[in-house]
Amino acid sequence: MPFIILFGDRLLYFEVNIYHSIQNYSMDQNIKKKEAAKKALELIMPHLNEDTILGIGTGSTTNFFIEELAKSNLIFKGVICSSEASKENFLSTGINILELNDVYSIDFYIDGADEYNSRFELIKGGGGALTREKILAHSSEKFLCIVDDSKLTEHLGKFPLPIEVLEISRSAISRKILKMGGKPKYRSGFVTDNGNQIIDINNFKIDVPYDMENLLNSIPGVVENGIFSKRKADVVIEATNKGTRVKTL
Ligand code: 5RP
Repeated sequence: MPFIILFGDRLLYFEVNIYHSIQNYSMDQNIKKKEAAKKALELIMPHLNEDTILGIGTGSTTNFFIEELAKSNLIFKGVICSSEASKENFLSTGINILELNDVYSIDFYIDGADEYNSRFELIKGGGGALTREKILAHSSEKFLCIVDDSKLTEHLGKFPLPIEVLEISRSAISRKILKMGGKPKYRSGFVTDNGNQIIDINNFKIDVPYDMENLLNSIPGVVENGIFSKRKADVVIEATNKGTRVKTL
């Protein structure tokens, strides 16, 4: 029993229990992610036809959506993916993979997020695909964001804000971020699909997401930042312990 063993062993006991509770939590989160993904497919299903183009984001929640879409046998024109990783998931599905340059617009863009607030502003880019994700979001008629409710926050910025930068500008941008009050951390060993690097900004005060999105993008060398405020989600599909909610503004 833990109470009769030495102090050092008792610490070990606590660590084991914390480890188990993290495991259970992440299982629950995956179930929620899958539920949000299923709900997104259910919502768009009646609107699909042979001309419909779907934009597909990146990440584990989006992967659940890809799984559901692949087994649905629904008829639509094809998908445009925000990353090489998402594209790869479609290779064996028989679903048409299109490029943004070859289409006029995207009907529905489906993607996850790292944080969202009640105004549907987002932080994205945990998977490093923020630039292409933002391009697809801006090119879409409807942006459906699929999330579990652990990502809801009133004040964006608890999740380290990713920015994609040109390699030569990394140190200069990091110094600028420090002056702005953030703690920049280079995502070591990671190269984006565009051949650039990622800086994750910790402890960043994002009071007005729209202004901060603009300000960061005005720094030379910044390719894009992970605040989605100028083009935010139209619909948030939020999976909770009590079921999945479809939220619109
Ligand atoms: C990738 C993203 C993802 O949408 C975000 O990181 C959420 O990921 P997940 O669905 O795995 O929780 O922005 O660049």
